[in-house]
Amino acid sequence: MPTYVTTPIYYVNAMPHLGHAYTTIVADVYSRFRRLCGDDVRFQTGTDEHGEKIAEAAAKAGETPREYVDRIAATFRETWPLLSIQPDYIIRTTDADHVKTVQDILQQVYDKGDIYFSEYSGLYCKGCERFLTEKELVDGKCPDHQVEPKAITEQNYFFRMSKYQDWLIDHINSNPEFITPERYRNEVLSFLSEPLEDLCISRPTARLTWGIPLPFDQNFVTYVWFDALINYLTGLGYPDGPDFETYWAGAEHVIAKDILKPHAIFWPTMLRAMEIEPYKRLHVHGYWNVDATKMSKSIGNVVRPKELVDAYGVDTVRYFVLREMSFGLDSSFSGDAILARHNSDLANDLGNLFSRSLTMIDKYAAGRVPERDSATLLTPDDRELMSAVSAMVVQYCENMDAFKFHKALQAVWEVISLLNRYIVTNAPWELAKDDRLADRLHTVLYFLAESLWKITLALGPIMPATAEKMAAALGMREQFAAAVIEDVQEWGEIPAGTVIDKGAQLFPRVDKKGAASAPVAAKVQGKKAAKAPKSDQEPEPALGEGLISFDQFKAVELRVAEIVAAEKVAKSDRLLKLTIKAPEERTIVAGIAQHYNPEALIGQRVIIVANLKPAKLMGIPSQGMVLAAKELLADGTEKLVVTTVAGDVAVGSRVA
Ligand code: MSP
Repeated sequence: MPTYVTTPIYYVNAMPHLGHAYTTIVADVYSRFRRLCGDDVRFQTGTDEHGEKIAEAAAKAGETPREYVDRIAATFRETWPLLSIQPDYIIRTTDADHVKTVQDILQQVYDKGDIYFSEYSGLYCKGCERFLTEKELVDGKCPDHQVEPKAITEQNYFFRMSKYQDWLIDHINSNPEFITPERYRNEVLSFLSEPLEDLCISRPTARLTWGIPLPFDQNFVTYVWFDALINYLTGLGYPDGPDFETYWAGAEHVIAKDILKPHAIFWPTMLRAMEIEPYKRLHVHGYWNVDATKMSKSIGNVVRPKELVDAYGVDTVRYFVLREMSFGLDSSFSGDAILARHNSDLANDLGNLFSRSLTMIDKYAAGRVPERDSATLLTPDDRELMSAVSAMVVQYCENMDAFKFHKALQAVWEVISLLNRYIVTNAPWELAKDDRLADRLHTVLYFLAESLWKITLALGPIMPATAEKMAAALGMREQFAAAVIEDVQEWGEIPAGTVIDKGAQLFPRVDKKGAASAPVAAKVQGKKAAKAPKSDQEPEPALGEGLISFDQFKAVELRVAEIVAAEKVAKSDRLLKLTIKAPEERTIVAGIAQHYNPEALIGQRVIIVANLKPAKLMGIPSQGMVLAAKELLADGTEKLVVTTVAGDVAVGSRVA
């Protein structure tokens, strides 16, 4: 089905920052994902160039509005390629076709009787470019701009928005996905539980000339929101362009919560008055904050996308924003967080897995993807891997479609971790020592290559350059260009004999130096030296596959802990919630419910990983991991035995 993905059109009174970059990256990722699903997609972004704010910014810069908007619109346009964002169309509200469409629509709605002339007194916030209701104020100020709105009385034109209130409530109620996530849908419904006022849609030219003149009264220009929202139609060539016919039914708008009301209330009612079907979905995300404050030019805490790209590379930036923010909720930006994601998730988990796997295919299969041995049975490890990959595809698709990007990525990283374990358990370097095990060795290497190919396809929409590099290294460059999501579901996609290129190094590590003070001051370690490794150079680890250095071991903090309470986790067959002392008290959720009665564990002294990053399991925060031995039984099931400490040793002692 054709899909039309849009971002807000950004005001040109500020340079692009991480907030603008985030929305536009999300729209780009979603567009690429829909294309991977075989959809015909049109993706549009643009700039909002009329209104009081822009006129003022131009005056301040000593430029005419036209000079000013041309200059800033160009900086937005130039930012997108730096972030690998590829819109199909970039609209500007000063484009001649847009001006004409807005005027035609105004005339049509006016002729219909849904625009009328009246006097209005209200509290006007220049930052929001709209009148605010008393209820919206916090301590008498606009909560977004921290200024007291100005009391204004003037004659203006009004759009009969109230006429469409009941229709809108019905529409939202009967289309649960119209506004997502649900919290914003509820917010809109709660707002609509009070009578809706009509919308003032003009500004007298005595006060503002930088706008589109009303076709029926030259003494007024259009209110900026009435002008701006229509961009979504102009970009499709409305009313006569063929793209409007093709794409409008699949319109999906992406915005942040600051502009929820114009998109969830003004826009659908405007469309109704124009007799156009409402858009399909509105996706609303939270704010990127810095130290709990919304990132904005006026506060002066902005993070520039270009600086981040220079320090970490474009794909790290794209991965980071999607992995770090739960779509819908606010997120805090910090240099430490992006550094940790780069080094841990990308350089370590993904990068090492990839280079390690390719090195082994190079070394043990003469650089060609080997054939899977179909004569012998699959091991439980192979089966676990195959079902984990199938589960990944399902979760990936569901979560990408629902804009839960962090969850889609978690699903991919579960397979990455599993593959790292698969390598250790199957130890190809051991298999390679015995010619009689060559078939098994080839099967293991085949599974590695196939799984990496599936990961490559899933990561394509999020990290396009990295995925392309991975595809080329796997000898699948051409297939990558034509890939569809079904390729992730099928096994046996890489033909036996495909020549791989082990030279690819995906993510050079980034040094922490200087990253703490300035958010983006991290430097790429030995940037020049880290470029393409020489072909005879062994990728990490140089110690021999499967071995870790003493330093790596030391980084894991193992401690003796005592279990003081244990209970089953509701709705889970696998999980127990343990309260342990190590010596401080903490909660650890362990996957041992099928192997232990909770009571039997109380008083046991066990070994825990004390410095594991906290995680939530079934909504319970877990701070660490209890070590357990895993025995694979003949029937393919597993037996888990928790490691206990026999000697008399104080709780909290380090294990080394
Ligand atoms: N011009 C209007 C939108 C008209 S759309 C028909 C406008 N422009 S804006 O430049 O202020 O852009 C607001 C949008 O920028 C937000 O909705 C969001 O997409 C993005 N962001 C700006 N700051 C942001 C954060 N701090 N965090 C996340 N996104 C932010 O409103």
